Amino acid sequence: METFPASHTPHSPFFLDVTLRDGNQALPRPWSLKQKQQVFQHLIRLEVPGAEVGFASASAVDFEACCALAQEAPASMVISSLSRARTAEIDASWEAVSHAAQPRVHIVYPVSPSVVNQVLRCTPHEAARAVRQAVRHARRLAGKRGSVQFSGEHFGDCLDDIALALDIFQVAIEEGADVINLPNTVERFRPMVFVEIARQVMEYFRGRSAFAVHCHNDLGMATATTVESYFAGATQLEVSLNGLGERAGNASLYEVVCALENSGVHTGIQRQYIFETAREVAELSAIAVGPKTPIIGSDVFSHRSGIHQDGAIKSRSGRGVYLPFVTGAVGRADGEQLRFTSQSGTAVLQDCLNRAGIHLDAVTLREYYRYLEKRSDAEGEMDERAILRHYRQWCAGSQI
Ligand code: KIV
Ligand code: ZN
Repeated sequence: METFPASHTPHSPFFLDVTLRDGNQALPRPWSLKQKQQVFQHLIRLEVPGAEVGFASASAVDFEACCALAQEAPASMVISSLSRARTAEIDASWEAVSHAAQPRVHIVYPVSPSVVNQVLRCTPHEAARAVRQAVRHARRLAGKRGSVQFSGEHFGDCLDDIALALDIFQVAIEEGADVINLPNTVERFRPMVFVEIARQVMEYFRGRSAFAVHCHNDLGMATATTVESYFAGATQLEVSLNGLGERAGNASLYEVVCALENSGVHTGIQRQYIFETAREVAELSAIAVGPKTPIIGSDVFSHRSGIHQDGAIKSRSGRGVYLPFVTGAVGRADGEQLRFTSQSGTAVLQDCLNRAGIHLDAVTLREYYRYLEKRSDAEGEMDERAILRHYRQWCAGSQI
C-alpha cells in the first residue's frame, strides 16, 4: 500500500510520555514514588524514548520521584521535569533530573494574549521578559549535557493572533531552548485548524528549533491532531499511557503509535506490551479502561452483526477486513471475538459448528438459527461455547 508520496520520507517521531506528570496531576489520588516507579518500568519496556516524570516543585513526592526515576532511567532516555518560569522551580527541576544521562528542564508559560492579559495580568513585553530570564537560567544550568524545552501554554487558543506566540517562541529560541512545544491545552476546535497554526510556526522558525505538540482530548480528537501535526513537521509527540491527563486526558500513546505504524511510520515503540501496560496502568490509576476504548478496550475486536461476522470469517487467514491491525501486534491474545445476537447471521453458527466438526445442511442451520435467535433475545449474546452448548440442547430437544 502506498502511504506516502514518493518525495516524502517521514522522520522518526520522538515520543515524550507525560503520564507521570500530566496524567499524575489529574489523578484523584496522585501516585506514590513506588507507583511512579511501576509505571516508569512500563515506559522503559515499551522503549518510549522520553518521559516527563513529574513537576519537581509541585510536591515532596514529585521531587523525590523525579530524582529517583532520573537515576533509574536508561542512558538513552530523556528525563524531563516541568517548571513554571520561576527560578526556584527551574532549580528544583534541574536538581532532580540532573541525575539522568539526558536531563531536560521544561518551562511552561502562556502564549495566548487573553491568558497573558487576564490571568497573568501582565503586558506582552513583561511576558517576553519572564520567558527570556527563565530560559536563559535553564540553559545555563543544563549546559551542553541537558536540554531545555519551552512550552507555550494555550497555544491552541491563538488562532486569531499568533503574533505574541511567535514573539515569545523567538525569545525562547534566542535564549537556547532546544524544543518548542505547541500545546493544545484545551481542545476546542477541529484538528486541522490547530495543525495549520502549528505549521505556520514551524515554517516561521524552520531549521532553528525542534517542535513538539501536546494535545488534550477534550473533544476526543487528540490522536488525530497529534498524528496530523506529525505529518505537518512536528518531531516530538507528547502522549500518555491510557490517555491519562488533565480533564479528558492527553493523546494516547497507543492510538498515536498504531495510527503512525498503519501509515508506514516506524515508531520504535514495542507495541506488543501495550495491552498488558494498559491493564496495569488502569489498576495503578484506578481509572478503568472503557470497553469501547480503541485498541485496549475489551469489546473493540468483537463482531456481532451478520455482515461483519461473515467478512471476518472469510478474511480470517488474511488481513481481516474488519480489523485495523493484527490484534497480536498490541499484545492481545483474545483476537477477534464473534458473538451471536439477533443481529447476527448464520455464518457465525456455521463457522462455530464446523470448527467443532459439525456440518449442517442449509435448512437445519436456519432452523437452529431461529431457535438460537429466540434464546439470545431472552438470555443475551452467546459466545462460541454457548453456541455449541445450545446446539447440543437443541439436538436433544428435537432428537436430531
Ligand atoms: O496542557 C498543557 O499546556 C501542558 C503544558 C505544561 C505543556 O500540560
Ligand atoms: Zn497538558
